[in-house]
Amino acid sequence: MKILITGGTNGMGKGVAQVLAGQSDPAHEIIILCRSEQLGEETIREITKDHGSYKHSIVLCDLTKLSDVKQAIAEIHEKHTYLDGVFVNAGLGYAAERTVTEDGCEAHFQVNYLSHFMLCLNLLSLLEKSEQGGRIIFNVTKTKQDHICWDDLQMTDNWAFEKGIHQAMVAKRLFLQKLNYLYRRRGDLSLSFIGFQISKTVWSNQLNIIPAYMRIMATLMKFLGTFISIEECGKIMMPLFVESADDSLQKSGKLMTWREDRFREMEEDATVLDKELQDRLWQTSLELCSDARTIQIAEHLERQSQGA
Ligand SMILES: NC(=O)c1ccc[n+]([C@@H]2O[C@H](COP(=O)([O-])OP(=O)(O)OC[C@H]3O[C@@H](n4cnc5c(N)ncnc54)[C@H](OP(=O)(O)O)[C@@H]3O)[C@@H](O)[C@H]2O)c1
Repeated sequence: MKILITGGTNGMGKGVAQVLAGQSDPAHEIIILCRSEQLGEETIREITKDHGSYKHSIVLCDLTKLSDVKQAIAEIHEKHTYLDGVFVNAGLGYAAERTVTEDGCEAHFQVNYLSHFMLCLNLLSLLEKSEQGGRIIFNVTKTKQDHICWDDLQMTDNWAFEKGIHQAMVAKRLFLQKLNYLYRRRGDLSLSFIGFQISKTVWSNQLNIIPAYMRIMATLMKFLGTFISIEECGKIMMPLFVESADDSLQKSGKLMTWREDRFREMEEDATVLDKELQDRLWQTSLELCSDARTIQIAEHLERQSQGA
């Protein structure tokens, strides 16, 4: 399987990359989309150290910049004729203060959601060429905040890092539902779109970024068994990337988790299943991306789903 992992240099993305690379299956190919060339190359060296001959690569892209996303899309299309999977994973977690990207968005909204919106729409054509059943796996969680702040999408008045993370999580889940709707409505079973929520907290790079008092609390919780390692997370998630097209399709449009040794479906929030909200976010995202090619792809999908 040829899998593109956003944020594969640390945390959950790296865990999945390691486990997939460790499968020692020459048919697997991993592409890590990352913002640091050095970290990306180090990660490739690390995950391939026991299986040096396999073909893995990086694509440089800082997800705070839509210009970088456009370049990454062009590079991926230039170098690859198909993809089997995309792991929508990269994310900004803890932040000491609100930051605004060069595209004028709140950083969590853009990194965790909007840049992935543009990336995924532009990679659908490569996923459709997969012979294994193309799939997009979204790293998501159900959060206390279950809505989009429509009146203040960029959180200029009422920002907190948790709110930024939560809003982006809701946005990713709305996007997943919309994609699933568009493909199923046109009777197209070539792709699946799956939300996955890890049931335990993953001991990720976030632990190195958070303030000292939070780290002390987390360290105490680690001894109580609250955390799992990135490798354990990778092992849990790996089947989602390599399972058959039929198994993947059965999970499409669902929010899945892993408990008691098997994948289980979680109930999705009514807000996320609301078609009007899905459409509203879709339109808003297209306006924010303001990219002719992305708009063309979105319009084509809409037309096809309406049978035109
Ligand atoms: N940890 C958990 O228990 C948990 C649970 C549920 C969901 N999540 C979600 O999982 C995702 C990953 O979290 P994690 O805990 O694994 O975090 P992490 O260890 O901090 O990893 C985040 C990854 O995202 C990349 N990234 C951040 N900003 C980026 C940017 N501007 N452009 C490109 N890549 C960027 C990072 O790159 P660098 O290596 O360059 O920093 C890193 O590879 C997040 O969306 C998080 O909300 C985490």
